[in-house]
Amino acid sequence: MNKNKIIQQTIEFIKSRLDGEGTGHDWFHVERVYKLALSIGKKERADEFIVSLGALLHDVADWKFFKGDTKKGGKVAREFLENLGVEEGVIGQVVDIVDNVSFKGEGEENNMRSIEGKVVQDADRIDAIGAVGIARVFTYGGSVGDTIYDPNILPVKNKKFKDYSAHARWSLEARRNPVSGGELHRKKVTSINHFFEKLLLLKDLMNTQTAKKIASQRDKYTREYLERFFDEWEGKI
Ligand code: ADP
Ligand code: NI
Repeated sequence: MNKNKIIQQTIEFIKSRLDGEGTGHDWFHVERVYKLALSIGKKERADEFIVSLGALLHDVADWKFFKGDTKKGGKVAREFLENLGVEEGVIGQVVDIVDNVSFKGEGEENNMRSIEGKVVQDADRIDAIGAVGIARVFTYGGSVGDTIYDPNILPVKNKKFKDYSAHARWSLEARRNPVSGGELHRKKVTSINHFFEKLLLLKDLMNTQTAKKIASQRDKYTREYLERFFDEWEGKI
């Protein structure tokens, strides 16, 4: 098994699959996660090949865009790797990463078991905070018609997957039917609330020590941004 060749083929596959993706899940997100996962993985002594494949395939089919099917990504990853003739031991580990990587709400347990999976999950979550993470929130929000902020809509604490994924269902409806879907959205979700429902929680959910350090820097910046946002909202500065 030529590991380098498999990684190159995986890169090509993901690039072509995510081409034109407009919700903050594009190839460049995958590339950032891949690079970050490699550097965290090195410090955490994780297997480089598994980390690479897990990072490259982690968003291959996000449940948010497949009617909440949390097993879709793993299935697509398995089929792809089987076609390349990758051995079952490797496939099993990669599928486990793809199936468990995603944040599904504050109230849901994290089932990631392997160190390689923990590294990929940390890298993915780090890309959701800091300057890049902030940009991604508003890109995602804009793509599904969310308003930036509405003081009358409060964030929901301790969301379970059922509620967390409801937003994805509204997103799909908003795309199919921009008027009524959009209305549905505007009543329930704002991009700023997503900071409180996810971004600000991530620093304490890091699995590895290496990621904790990076996340705490980015978290600091994210909080400064929010303070400034609210000051500007009130016309204070
Ligand atoms: P990841 O790729 O890190 O698993 P997600 O798939 O959950 O992240 O979401 C992709 C990007 O869109 C992330 O930056 C995330 O913070 C953002 N995002 C997800 N849901 C929402 C939402 N309801 N409102 C605004 N941004 C969101
Ligand atoms: Ni991701």
